[in-house]
Amino acid sequence: MEAYSLFDMNVGEMVGSSTVYLVIITALLCIVNSIVKKTPLPPGPWNFPVVGSLPWLSINSPHKTLYNMAKTYGNAFYLKFGSIPTLVLNEYQTIHDALVDKSEDFSGRPDLFSFEYASEGKSMSFTGCNRRFWKLHRRLAEKSLKTVMESTLNLASEEARNLAEMFTDNTLDPREQVLWSMAKVKYTLCYGNYKKNLDHFHKMINAVLKVLELHNTGNFLNFIPLARTIFKKRERELKETCDKMMDMTKISEEKHLAEYNRDKIEDAMDALIKIGIDEGRSPLERDRILHTVQDFIGAGLDITYISINWCLQYMAKYPNFQKLVQDEIDQVLEGRPVTPLDQPSMPKTMSFIYEVLRHACVVPFALPHSTVRDTTLQGYRIPKDTFVLVNLFSMTRDIKVFPEPEVFNPNRFIDNGNLNADVLNRFIPCGIGRRRCVGEKLGKTELFLYVVNILQKLNVNQVSEINSTPIFGLVQKPKPFQLNFASRK
Ligand code: HEM
Repeated sequence: MEAYSLFDMNVGEMVGSSTVYLVIITALLCIVNSIVKKTPLPPGPWNFPVVGSLPWLSINSPHKTLYNMAKTYGNAFYLKFGSIPTLVLNEYQTIHDALVDKSEDFSGRPDLFSFEYASEGKSMSFTGCNRRFWKLHRRLAEKSLKTVMESTLNLASEEARNLAEMFTDNTLDPREQVLWSMAKVKYTLCYGNYKKNLDHFHKMINAVLKVLELHNTGNFLNFIPLARTIFKKRERELKETCDKMMDMTKISEEKHLAEYNRDKIEDAMDALIKIGIDEGRSPLERDRILHTVQDFIGAGLDITYISINWCLQYMAKYPNFQKLVQDEIDQVLEGRPVTPLDQPSMPKTMSFIYEVLRHACVVPFALPHSTVRDTTLQGYRIPKDTFVLVNLFSMTRDIKVFPEPEVFNPNRFIDNGNLNADVLNRFIPCGIGRRRCVGEKLGKTELFLYVVNILQKLNVNQVSEINSTPIFGLVQKPKPFQLNFASRK
């Protein structure tokens, strides 16, 4: 048979041979693809039809069940939340591997109907980073918070002093009064001076609290489509309350636009309107401004007032640490009012606050994330659009960082009289990576101001044994408890 090369072929032969090449290349691609596909999904428990792994989880403490499961399946494992395939991330290092080392891949937010009701695709909190405008939206949200930070912290100090005044020489359950004290601060941050809008203030805060409660109790509807048809009333209630909150926000926006003065920016709504005008309206069109303000009050109110309540409870339960904080307050301030600038010189006070956030595990899960593309984590394949649950509780119980994690001990955050940077870097109650809390600095400083103002004036005492088992939720609340507040003078 005559030997021949490609150069000797006629057109017909060449077409035939390029088909052969095409077939070979396609086959090779298929092999590579199948190797990639063979990269396994993370391991996980067996799933029931319809409800998935939900029956395995404790209703009162699913974060604890998930942490225990990590001991069997590893810190990144897979299960089904109802019908939704879910990746659960546990402990600091694994959370860091995903949210920092692969921050872009894990920066999405899942398409949950409750997110959609609350945000209509226009909120910064509930929108994936891959969406158009998100980065800009986040930057502008940060900028608007910065603009009103100082005035908000001044008000927080004033309200904390008022609260201390009200508590003086009383025995009471402080939860409701702390809520309304912080509500004044957050409303003023978002919508302007609460004293000038008392009716709007009360209606707005009640709507926010209702939305938060419905999100808490109606969460399972996101995961079991069948349940949505059974619990139609609950879903309708959520939609109606979100709509009501938006109507109230629109009323406030119209007032802001009518009275707008670019030289007198008093709240986040003003700041966002100004940014919208200065930077070009398109990225911050009306709906985005409205939703950003709602993000601030929705995400900022619950966490801070509940954390203050936990701080009060722990002061009473651990009088020796209360005394250490009071000694630092007296030594540093010598009787003068506290300011945010005192924070760096008061490590014992900050270590107390951090230990309360850790021990009580106020926020057991971050907001749900999702993957924006196919990716891998610790050798496992994670498909695009995977629902990602970040178990912050597991971070607070990581014995490599926090030995004897069930013991309340603020000293674990102290090293040589200063805050211990190594421990602090691995303590992430506000999340980590590009979706970390936008109000972190504000929130922590507010806690600082409330704790100092109260302990400067008062001794906080236990009246009877306090049950510290939290009420589970997106933010874990303390059960009813009584405290005695005695004047220190
Ligand atoms: C110490 C108090 C606070 C704690 C412990 C806290 C905690 C968190 C956590 C865990 C997340 C989820 C992060 C993630 O999804 O990975 C978050 C997100 C968020 N927080 Fe906070 N937060 C606090 C205070 C605040 C305050 C005061 C505000 C607003 C004024 C605020 C606004 C937000 C917003 C808007 C998001 C969504 C960020 C995004 O999706 O990009 N937070 N926070």
